[in-house]
Amino acid sequence: MTASYIAAIDQGTTSSRCILFGADGRIVAVEQQEHAQIFPQPGWVEHDAAEIWTRVQAVVRGALDKAGLTREDVRAVGITNQRETTVLWDRHTGEPVHHAIVWQDTRTEALCRELGRNVGQDRFRRETGLPLASYFAGPKIRWLLDNVEGLRERAEAGDILFGTMDTWLIWNLTGGVNGGRHVTDVTNASRTLLMNLHTLEWDERIAESIGVPMAMLPQIRSSAEVYGEAVGVLAGVPVAAALGDQQAALFGQTCFDVGEAKSTYGTGTFLLLNTGERIVNSYHGLLTTVGYRIGDRPPVYALEGSIAVTGSLVQWLRDQLGIISTAAEIETLAGTVEDNGGAYFVPAFSGLFAPYWRSDARGVITGLTRYVTKGHLARAVLEATAWQTREVVDAMQKDSGVTLTALKVDGGMTSNNLLMQNIADVLNVPVERPYVAETTALGAAYAAGLAVGFWDGLDTLRANWHRAAEWTPRMDAATREHEHRNWLKAVERTMGWIEQDDEQPQL
Ligand SMILES: Nc1ncnc2c1ncn2[C@@H]1O[C@H](COP(=O)(O)OP(=O)(O)OP(=O)(O)O)[C@@H](O)[C@H]1O
Ligand SMILES: [Mg+2]
Repeated sequence: MTASYIAAIDQGTTSSRCILFGADGRIVAVEQQEHAQIFPQPGWVEHDAAEIWTRVQAVVRGALDKAGLTREDVRAVGITNQRETTVLWDRHTGEPVHHAIVWQDTRTEALCRELGRNVGQDRFRRETGLPLASYFAGPKIRWLLDNVEGLRERAEAGDILFGTMDTWLIWNLTGGVNGGRHVTDVTNASRTLLMNLHTLEWDERIAESIGVPMAMLPQIRSSAEVYGEAVGVLAGVPVAAALGDQQAALFGQTCFDVGEAKSTYGTGTFLLLNTGERIVNSYHGLLTTVGYRIGDRPPVYALEGSIAVTGSLVQWLRDQLGIISTAAEIETLAGTVEDNGGAYFVPAFSGLFAPYWRSDARGVITGLTRYVTKGHLARAVLEATAWQTREVVDAMQKDSGVTLTALKVDGGMTSNNLLMQNIADVLNVPVERPYVAETTALGAAYAAGLAVGFWDGLDTLRANWHRAAEWTPRMDAATREHEHRNWLKAVERTMGWIEQDDEQPQL
């Protein structure tokens, strides 16, 4: 029998999933496990990479068991992952040398300011497409080298490897200390502040400026090509794709043409617009990034609007405040009132990402009066996601000249009808959700399937896209404008909260 399934491993911020797909792009089985979120101090977020690797193996096994399949039924495996999260490990023992520093972590804020020298945030933007911000991997590597005793010497001697989660998983999947491949793909590499967007190679000058030895960096490869063969639970299966989760979602939504865009609503929200072979510089607070690269075809670039906190605000209400007991309850609670009661919530927990890039911002709830109930707060929470989307869409239209006519959405928050309606209302365009909302995993599966000839080309994949739901705008223009103004006033109140003297003590 020929192997007739593709496996995708989706290593996310909150959980790891393995999804098995059939040739029609439909899901055959899903297995998922959460991992610990470690918050050592305000603004710091860590993961245990060893725990993540254990969970990834468990979900692969679990998905195969659920589907009643074995590794022989799997033609290829693709990886997609939370981006920027940084892990360093010892190449001889395979042990991480510290917890992974998660993309949301703000500990490198002061370092980034220092690295900007007299130029500021845009010092490396021309080469990398990115502002200097704590979000990206490069400064996180530098922080670890500066703060873990003896690490820099070991890294310079070639004993320490760097990876984002794709690299960590591929290295482990392909044998770890016994010949594991140390590679990353162009999309993940484009989030380090260390890769040159034009050459798709590490930029030695920037690596030196940031203080990262070249010896620890993985080889940069395409998003869809065979990196090696798995050992262990998927023994013999080609590891054939890697894409950052947001780029994978762009691919899974089949946004293959210039001007096509998607927005993924998970822990954070990320809107990506395909700009084709053109590198479009942003002047309005977006990032320029690699969308994907299939085999040795030319890379496809994208403009990205990154929003740090959307679904995680709902989680915060659930886990930190206990106002709801499941994420879905936010909709029920918001449904108990007609509007936000005058309250606005700007969740600048990790500073503000696009389009502001202000690491000195912190969250606010504003417009409070004695009238406001938890129902109004629930509304304000959902509206925060909608208004943040509006801000990146506005920036995207200014940077690209493309006017959005509809928005393709996916991710866990898209099961929230009130939110989807609200997004259609504040953007004043229809919002569409495809049948398979797990587009992140689907994109990784598509890329892996293309690499091994399981699918014959992009048109076959496009034919798999089916619309499952659509929301059309209903809000009148005057309300939209009034609410938008209030939102912008609330955003202003987050800024400048952190002053240089308030900085957190280092380790
Ligand atoms: N009905 C809902 N209403 C609002 N938010 C929701 C709802 N259901 C899930 N969420 C939020 O969506 C997020 C989960 O979405 P999703 O599963 O796409 O994220 P994720 O891909 O797991 O995130 P990551 O990959 O970053 O781990 C959570 O933050 C959760 O709070
Ligand atoms: Mg995800």
